Amino acid sequence: MNPKAHEPASLPVPGPDALAQSETLAASLRAEIAATGGWMPFSRFMERALYAPGLGYYSGGARKFGRRGDDGSDFVTAPELSPLFAHTLARPVAEALGASGTRRVMEFGAGTGRLAAGLLAALDALGAAPERYQIVELSGELRERQRATLAAELPDALAARVQWLDVLPERFEGVVIGNEVLDAMPVRLVLRADEPGEGAAGAPAAGWRERGVAVDAATRAFVFEDRPLAAGAPDVIDTLDALDLPGGYLTETHEAARAFTHTVCTMLARGAAFFIDYGFPAGEYYHPQRAEGTLMCHYRHRAHGDPFVWPGLQDITAHVEFSGIHAAGVAAGAELLGYTSQGRFLLNAGITEVLAEIDPSDAARFLPAANAVQKLISESEMGELFKVIAFGRGIDGLDAFARGERSHAL
Ligand SMILES: C[S@@+](CC[C@H](N)C(=O)[O-])C[C@H]1O[C@@H](n2cnc3c(N)ncnc32)[C@H](O)[C@@H]1O
Repeated sequence: MNPKAHEPASLPVPGPDALAQSETLAASLRAEIAATGGWMPFSRFMERALYAPGLGYYSGGARKFGRRGDDGSDFVTAPELSPLFAHTLARPVAEALGASGTRRVMEFGAGTGRLAAGLLAALDALGAAPERYQIVELSGELRERQRATLAAELPDALAARVQWLDVLPERFEGVVIGNEVLDAMPVRLVLRADEPGEGAAGAPAAGWRERGVAVDAATRAFVFEDRPLAAGAPDVIDTLDALDLPGGYLTETHEAARAFTHTVCTMLARGAAFFIDYGFPAGEYYHPQRAEGTLMCHYRHRAHGDPFVWPGLQDITAHVEFSGIHAAGVAAGAELLGYTSQGRFLLNAGITEVLAEIDPSDAARFLPAANAVQKLISESEMGELFKVIAFGRGIDGLDAFARGERSHAL
């Protein structure tokens, strides 16, 4: 591919090694597209761009998380923003461990290991240190970063409780955590090709097409190509069909995130599972005005909408559709413990008390912490866009959902 074909002028250009790695991944994607009739579903493209062994964004060497573009990172997550996120989350985690009489934590996609380190330290301080902290991490490079963070930030006895899992156990008793994991799962792109009502009466998905990826014969660049939705269309199409969505409406369906939630909730024999992420329930997600979907790419702290820029070097993400996540968890037999905004959840969990533990006269510590709290809970920052959903087995309820719970919106 001509690497300039998808190189927005505003983005800093990667170095030659990174470009070469991206070109290797692009070549393998082009070969796979050629071998599958000249087209692949977008979900497959996203899966390979993020997770192709050694080459994908999460499985290759990209730096990913950090606070500024000039350190080579692409975006910041709540655990990276401030340790107060982990210290506050530790409270409902401790409550769930206590209520279920369990002593294990399992974290999916643990990033740099900051959340694990903060949670372990805070749980220990609350007298609720888990006997094991298990991490499920797809990236070997991130495992190493997690190991280094834990060794640097925790006493040996606590760091020694962390274990990395290669396969999921059939049963798990304890607390599961996934911060910004669901948004990193591949989505399908679907497009309303006609005006509502124009499709054949009663025929499923008559008006919907699937947006996939093809290769332009002249430039060798990746291009979008729409095809009729194949048999086995996602069941969410029935929901979409019932809505009065305009022709040209583009959105995502989230089979991978739903299957993942189902698997985790099936595995959860006792305890709770918390997923924290940006997104909306179906009614808001599939709103007629959200006509271009939520697909977003991040490179050096710049957000843009072109998933074909430097495959493997940039993050690709879509918002989470929480009604589908709820349905998947409940279908696995788990109970919904609560669904609310991140701001409400953190306030209920006592983030202001956690902040008050820092001496305000110690400005060097207090001011950044107070700023971070503001970012985490403010409606105009992360407080409202980010949601928390929790499932449970053998637990009646959690204080962190005591006020402002919104499962009625799911
Ligand atoms: C946006 S990052 C978030 C990292 C970290 N939790 C944080 O908040 O900083 C998404 C993470 O989810 C992980 N992930 C995606 N699918 C996963 C799966 N099926 N199992 C485990 N981790 C997964 C990715 O590898 C990546 O590390």
